[in-house]
Amino acid sequence: MTTIVEINDLKELARRRVPKMFFDYANSGAWTESTYRANEADFAKIKLRQRVLVDMTDRSLETTMIGQKVAMPVALAPTGLTGMQHADGEILAAQAAEEFGVPFTLSTMSICSLEDVAAATSKPIWFQLYVMRDRDFVLNLIDRAKAASCSALVLTLDLQILGQRHKDVRNGLSAPPRFTPKHIYQMATRPRWCLGMLGTKRRTFGNIVGHAKGVGDLSSLSSWTNEQFDPRLSWKDVTWIKERWGGKLILKGILDKEDALRAVDTGADAIIVSNHGGRQLDGAPSSITALPGIADAVGDKIELHLDGGIRSGQDVLKALCLGAKGTYIGRPFLYGLGAFGKQGVTMALEIIRKELDITMALCGKRNIEDAGPDLLY
Ligand SMILES: Cc1cc2nc3c(=O)[nH]c(=O)nc-3n(C[C@H](O)[C@H](O)[C@H](O)COP(=O)(O)O)c2cc1C
Repeated sequence: MTTIVEINDLKELARRRVPKMFFDYANSGAWTESTYRANEADFAKIKLRQRVLVDMTDRSLETTMIGQKVAMPVALAPTGLTGMQHADGEILAAQAAEEFGVPFTLSTMSICSLEDVAAATSKPIWFQLYVMRDRDFVLNLIDRAKAASCSALVLTLDLQILGQRHKDVRNGLSAPPRFTPKHIYQMATRPRWCLGMLGTKRRTFGNIVGHAKGVGDLSSLSSWTNEQFDPRLSWKDVTWIKERWGGKLILKGILDKEDALRAVDTGADAIIVSNHGGRQLDGAPSSITALPGIADAVGDKIELHLDGGIRSGQDVLKALCLGAKGTYIGRPFLYGLGAFGKQGVTMALEIIRKELDITMALCGKRNIEDAGPDLLY
């Protein structure tokens, strides 16, 4: 039995427990994966100031993200196909996040539907929206998120067209997945995963099938998803989406100062500095490299969040010191889910909490809200 002490231990266990095509789907970036690697590597270049002989008792990691109380400033990022890392993955991850006291963001491309996840949790979740060409479907999805009492809409801006991930092409991964002899072999070598999947009915895109026009089965879904991401999405669209939604709005996928300033003008509540976990524009800077410039440009006009490359509580602290009010983890919780289901998501959060708490203390602070540039070397 592997001893789990860091996120990487969960990753290695997930590699052994999740069929290759789905593990690779999570563990991949676009093209050469240079931005994917930089997201993690650039955190390691930032050094912290070690302080001594300060009172380290009574520490607190509690703070807020878009005005909502969080046990620590780490939300679960929206990730598509999460129910393929583990049966009912979105439900399990949402429950783990709720028990821990951090937000869970459900992807448009989830396996479990909005309604199913809302029914399995007792506090509001956040919902991530992809804007599709079929605007009736989008309007309906916004209304469904409202009806499910979601407390924030996360509008993704950086996926008007899909970046290419070589591993997915080589594995023949498609949306929804096809089942060729190669895929069946990959699944058969993961019996625990198969048992879970046999025990659930949720095996396709729960937010789409039965809701989008002309999508009633798997083959119609495949052509629908391939055609539907809208390459014409523009800043004007943010206005009607904001109006239709009427609640807290977070704009996800900003990496450039000029775009950040446009985002401020929309009146959104927060932006997520993000390169989609290195899955879209390979060659773009890491999120943590982009953060200080964006923080400088927007000042306190909008709340800043960051995702991409966070693998430890230390990374969370560094992001806060450079101007983020909150952060998100994508792969770390997916690895936990693939390794141990719901318990694994909790483990990922616990690992990050402990690292964040100890790091903050060793930098001489007792309250996470006091994190600032003075903690950096
Ligand atoms: C497997 C996977 C699927 C993703 N699916 C979505 C998605 O459906 N919507 C979205 O806005 N972002 C999606 N993302 C991007 C994440 O929300 C987030 O930006 C990224 O994972 C952060 O980087 P990290 O994985 O290094 O923490 C996905 C990321 C991964 C790894």
